[in-house]
Amino acid sequence: MAKTDIGPQTVLYPLPTALVSCEDVAGRRSIITISWTGICCSTPPMLCIGVRKSRFSHFIISSSRKFGLNLPTEDQVQIMDFCGNNSGRDIDKFSECHLTPVSGSKSGALLIAECPVSLECEVRHILELGSHDLFVAEITATYIDESVVDGGGKYIMEKLKPIAYMTKSREYRGGFSKSLGRYGEYKDHFK
Ligand SMILES: Cc1cc2nc3c(=O)[nH]c(=O)nc-3n(C[C@H](O)[C@H](O)[C@H](O)COP(=O)(O)O)c2cc1C
Repeated sequence: MAKTDIGPQTVLYPLPTALVSCEDVAGRRSIITISWTGICCSTPPMLCIGVRKSRFSHFIISSSRKFGLNLPTEDQVQIMDFCGNNSGRDIDKFSECHLTPVSGSKSGALLIAECPVSLECEVRHILELGSHDLFVAEITATYIDESVVDGGGKYIMEKLKPIAYMTKSREYRGGFSKSLGRYGEYKDHFK
C-alpha cells in the first residue's frame, strides 16, 4: 500500500460511544458522550476516559471521583448525539432526554436506567495530558439487562446494538451483528 504521512492525527476507528453519567455532592449532574474510552486493566478491572478540561462533566467527576459508563444502543443514537452537543451547565440532560438516574450499589455513582449495560466506576488516577485529562477508573460493578444476555451468559449483539463513532468522517455507524470469528480461532492459521 502506498501510504502518505498526514501528520500526527487521532485516527483510530471505530471508537465506541458511551454515555458517562455523573453527579457531585451539590446535586449537579450531567451526561457526557465519550468516545475516547477503553478498558485498560483486567485485574482490577479498569477503564479510562479522556475528558476535555472545559466540560461540565470534567468539573463534576474531578470532585466526585466516580461516574457511570453506560452503553447506548442504536435506538439511542439521538440521545447520544444530544448529550455530546449540549452541556449540563445549561440543561438537565436526564430530564431533556427522559432518562432515569439510578445510583450504583457500590459508590452510589449515577447510572442511566435505560441503557442495557452500565459500569459503575471509581476514579483511581487523573492524568493531565493536554487538552484532555485521562480519568483512570476501577469498575466496581457491572449492571446488565437480562434481555441482552442469552442462557449461557453470552451477550446478544443484535440486542446490544452498539454505536461506533468514526472520528474523521464524524459519523455514527451501527450493524455489528456479523461475526468474523472467535478469540484464538486463527492462532494456527499461518503456521
Ligand atoms: C460522538 C461524540 C464523542 C465525544 N467524545 C468525547 C470525549 O471522548 N471526550 C470529551 O471530552 N468530549 C467528547 N465529546 C463532546 C462532549 O460529549 C460534549 O462537549 C458534551 O456536550 C459535554 O457535556 P458537559 O459539558 O455536560 O460535560 C464527544 C461528543 C460526541 C458527539
